Amino acid sequence: MTHFEPQTMGQQFGRRSWAEPWKIKMVEPLRVTDRDTRERALDEAGYNTFLLRSRDVYIDLLTDSGTSAMSDRQWAGMMMGDEAYAGSVNFFHLESAIQHYYGYRHILPTHQGRGAEHLLSRAAIKPGQLVPGNMYFTTTRAHQELAGGEFADVVIDQAHDPDDPHPFKGNVDLDKLDTLIATRGAANIAYVSLAATVNMAGGQPVSMANAKALKALCERHEIKVYLDATRLVENAFFIQERELGYQATRIADIVKEFTSHTDGAWSSAKKDSLVNIGGWLAVNEWPLFEELRNQIVLFEGLHTYGGLAGRDMEAMAIGIAESMQDDHIRSRIGQVRYLGELLTDWEVPIVHPVGGHAIFLNARAFYPQLSQDEFPAQTLAAELYLDSGIRSMERGVVSAGRDPKTGGHHYPNLELTRLTIPRRVYTQAHMDVVAESVKTVWDNRTAATGLEMIYEPKYLRFFQARFKPRHG
Ligand code: F0G
Repeated sequence: MTHFEPQTMGQQFGRRSWAEPWKIKMVEPLRVTDRDTRERALDEAGYNTFLLRSRDVYIDLLTDSGTSAMSDRQWAGMMMGDEAYAGSVNFFHLESAIQHYYGYRHILPTHQGRGAEHLLSRAAIKPGQLVPGNMYFTTTRAHQELAGGEFADVVIDQAHDPDDPHPFKGNVDLDKLDTLIATRGAANIAYVSLAATVNMAGGQPVSMANAKALKALCERHEIKVYLDATRLVENAFFIQERELGYQATRIADIVKEFTSHTDGAWSSAKKDSLVNIGGWLAVNEWPLFEELRNQIVLFEGLHTYGGLAGRDMEAMAIGIAESMQDDHIRSRIGQVRYLGELLTDWEVPIVHPVGGHAIFLNARAFYPQLSQDEFPAQTLAAELYLDSGIRSMERGVVSAGRDPKTGGHHYPNLELTRLTIPRRVYTQAHMDVVAESVKTVWDNRTAATGLEMIYEPKYLRFFQARFKPRHG
């Protein structure tokens, strides 16, 4: 054979692998630390991975938010920033990218997702109103509550079970929502807050059929559906893979069809859209947009920059287009699955099915000896860091926070530690190293004794809370 013939090679080895649809042009060195250094660093950080310095972290799986590697085209776009205070050319690029790919009419840029959540919650929730959603997200619920709303969970029950194999564990339970409407009255519902995918359930998708049926139910009661589109492209991948009739539909077309079943959306562009900072808010309705456009000047900035530099908006416009490429999203989720499959082969308990952006370790199954008051998922994040310098994030009782009415802890059924995979950043070899460290911590699981919280901030406590070991 004088030249490479993929077909022949495939037959010869009997396998066909996927690979990233890019190659690496610039690298950033990693720092490996010893255990003594990590013990000191974790102690200084109050056993909270959010309080570690990143120079003390080896492989950083804290979050997929703002941690993507940008493409050469995005960096080129950064150089084309029009830093005018008003009417920047980059704003108009961003506006047309969102209109084209997401299909909404009126667009506002925001500094990140929670900026958009803040504006929408202030404008669309009256104090005392309910906001039903398919499981809570930390910042989303916090802003709904700050605006006087009350969150009501209407996700299907399967979402709360880490082992349930349902292909669309992010779906809204339409019976639960119907009952809520019947008992509380449609006028007492601000809007339905629909997230695709559902982060806290393990990056679980919503089916197209569910989004469509939800819209029909809400229209009958004149209730709006607003979408958290932060990871909608990942959601579209699961629809393409699992929902009958979508196997030949392009990701971009699935995204557009999905948003057509909603009245507006917000997004943290730091995830799907491959940028290090940025977000947006988009609605179709004029009076609401007018209100949002007026509010944005108080909290974010003028309506044509929303807290961002022109260059950031340009990178976002390009990132949105790149994120919709079928081969991009296949390799992104392929890498997450690769890690999930290694851990599953070794019988380490994780949330199934594997979702879009992360592997979620089931900390309850790691540490049956710990109650939720001893913070099993926080403990697991600490143990993993001590073992290898890998940084993960607690997604259990600490993240769930307190009920604003009773003051008591929310005790979520899911007590998880998230290994979140940044986009286009780490290689398959890094995933091997991560899996091996998780396996070591799993093998040593009976020795864990849990943590005690010694400092608790008022809002979103998981970011800044401090802990100490219960024995030691
Ligand atoms: N919605 C979802 C589903 C998110 O995952 C996030 C952020 C936000 C909204 C808020 O956006 O951070 O830009 O203000 N999630 C990050 C995470 C922090 O690690 O999951 P933001």
